[in-house]
Amino acid sequence: MVCHPLFSWSCLLIPPNMTMMVFGYKDRWVSILELLEAIQQRRSIRKFTEQTVDKGLVQELIDVSVWAPSASNEQPWGFVIVQDQVYLNELSTAAKSGILEKINVLPALEQYRSTMENQAFNIFYNAPALVIFYGKKDDPHTDHDCSMAAQNFMLAAREKELGTCWIGFAEAVCASDEFKTKHHIPEDYKLVAPIILGYPDHFPQNSISRKDYPVFSWVTNN
Ligand SMILES: Cc1cc2nc3c(=O)[nH]c(=O)nc-3n(C[C@H](O)[C@H](O)[C@H](O)COP(=O)(O)O)c2cc1C
Repeated sequence: MVCHPLFSWSCLLIPPNMTMMVFGYKDRWVSILELLEAIQQRRSIRKFTEQTVDKGLVQELIDVSVWAPSASNEQPWGFVIVQDQVYLNELSTAAKSGILEKINVLPALEQYRSTMENQAFNIFYNAPALVIFYGKKDDPHTDHDCSMAAQNFMLAAREKELGTCWIGFAEAVCASDEFKTKHHIPEDYKLVAPIILGYPDHFPQNSISRKDYPVFSWVTNN
């Protein structure tokens, strides 16, 4: 179903059996995935095209991410955005060195040694952008709140045909005092979610299956 660009959002009635729609808003043609589909079709993306992501679009995704719930409505998040491929490469190299140092003292991380020693491996998978969610340290719910905002971000990105992946390895650099000072991150904020963003080479067709989950108890009154 296609709507004319002059039509407003309100013209959009989504039939229950129609999962993806294309319609015009102002002068843009936009594809819309339904929410349940976006949730299931979000996959971690680790291969990107060279296309950069428009700054306005990054802003739009962050703006929508902060509609996440937060304990006592504290909204404890703050952001750093990096859209500089050369700098991201430098950060990746620094992170790999830092992780290798950790591996030397933490044998549990040994499985990552060969990956970190691989010169060609970029922890950001050459994504054109990195959006980092920081949260207020003194807020006991900061990890929950910022993680929910990060999930909103990833789903909104999926809806815009953008790929994301949470990069835990980035902690080695993005949580460092040096990085925090350089990017004006107040002392009372801590790293929560470093998320890469870019146009995917492709969206994986085969969904990674999910494990069976235990339901410990389900209480009803009938
Ligand atoms: C806290 C966290 C840290 C992660 N760190 C990395 C990472 O450093 N590198 C990476 O490639 N993927 C990372 N991932 C992505 C997971 O590997 C991925 O979500 C998982 O395999 C499930 O795949 P899916 O996201 O496609 O459903 C991380 C995910 C989470 C939630």
